[in-house]
Amino acid sequence: MIIEKKKILITGVAGFLGSNFLVKTLNEGHRVVGIDNLSMGSLQNIKNSLDHENFEFIEGDVLDTTLIDRLDEDFDVIVHLAAFKIPRYGNAVDTLKINSKGSENMLELARKLKCKFVLASTSDVYGMSPDIPFKEDGNCLIGDSKVPRWAYAVSKLFDEHLALAYMEDYDFPVVILRFFGSYGPNQNLSWWGGPQSVFIDCILNNKEIPIHGDGQQTRTFTYVNDTIEGIYAATMKPEANGEVFNIGANEEITILDLATLLKEISGEPTTSEVKLIPYNEISAGRKYQDVMRRVPDNTKAERILGIKAQTSLKEGLRITFEWQKKVSLQKA
Ligand SMILES: NC(=O)c1ccc[n+]([C@@H]2O[C@H](COP(=O)([O-])OP(=O)(O)OC[C@H]3O[C@@H](n4cnc5c(N)ncnc54)[C@H](O)[C@@H]3O)[C@@H](O)[C@H]2O)c1
Repeated sequence: MIIEKKKILITGVAGFLGSNFLVKTLNEGHRVVGIDNLSMGSLQNIKNSLDHENFEFIEGDVLDTTLIDRLDEDFDVIVHLAAFKIPRYGNAVDTLKINSKGSENMLELARKLKCKFVLASTSDVYGMSPDIPFKEDGNCLIGDSKVPRWAYAVSKLFDEHLALAYMEDYDFPVVILRFFGSYGPNQNLSWWGGPQSVFIDCILNNKEIPIHGDGQQTRTFTYVNDTIEGIYAATMKPEANGEVFNIGANEEITILDLATLLKEISGEPTTSEVKLIPYNEISAGRKYQDVMRRVPDNTKAERILGIKAQTSLKEGLRITFEWQKKVSLQKA
């Protein structure tokens, strides 16, 4: 099949998913303009692409409408990844502002250019729904407004509704992708990157492995290449337009077992022991609500996008462990 070469605008290009998606799109021969304010991403993540003839990097903010007005006018698709992620125990203003206003600004650009818009959403929108596995047309169960972590899910639900409303009123295609815990090279090395980042760091440095709650909460971590295949298929395939997709693997694991598996994978003697930390200790006495099970139904992504996660959790974590070990040694 001959794939038409596209001109793609990626927001959040220097972040974890953005930088991996950039490599994929350039390898496939597309032209890319990438924006990032480098608040959470880094030039290090995209350094190998900065001189690529088909790539232009703009250090800038998706809240900056003057910058957005000056962008090229010939994009075929905008892949909107820039966002502020989960505010675990406070500081929800950035999350709410960037994920609402920033997304609105990028949707306005798509409206002006009449180009396709791919939105990064999250599995967190399902909240505490008991309907496992989560289906795209299922219910979303968001908790107490006094628990700051829900600001993220609410901001992404707002984005989803806004994008679908723009599609209906202004007649351009939108695709919504709900990612399930992606991990791999270029992941952020703090909690921002997910528990696996922190656990690997603890194992490498013989520190206690902090687990919030009793560690029985489950996730289905997804190796980054599998996430990127999902974003790519959604970007390229017209069949995806107007749809919402779960993008994830389906090997469910408890957070406690994740820590044990990573210790096994390290293959090194480590003195790291798990430390269970009650939620109220971490949240400075404020109420916290966790998602106890998170598993996607992937049948829609398989049927329409033609994708299925290929990397086993063990193999993906092994690659990620090796990557993080190398990065940590370089930093030392
Ligand atoms: N990684 C995951 O597992 C996961 C899961 C669910 C949803 N998502 C969503 O996917 C997208 C990408 O996630 P990620 O893991 O790569 O996160 P990330 O934080 O690594 O990347 C986001 C990038 O956006 C940039 N950014 C933040 N605010 C900006 C602004 N105002 N203007 C310009 N750039 C800005 C950051 O500097 C960063 O490089 C996000 O929308 C996130 O909510 C990711």
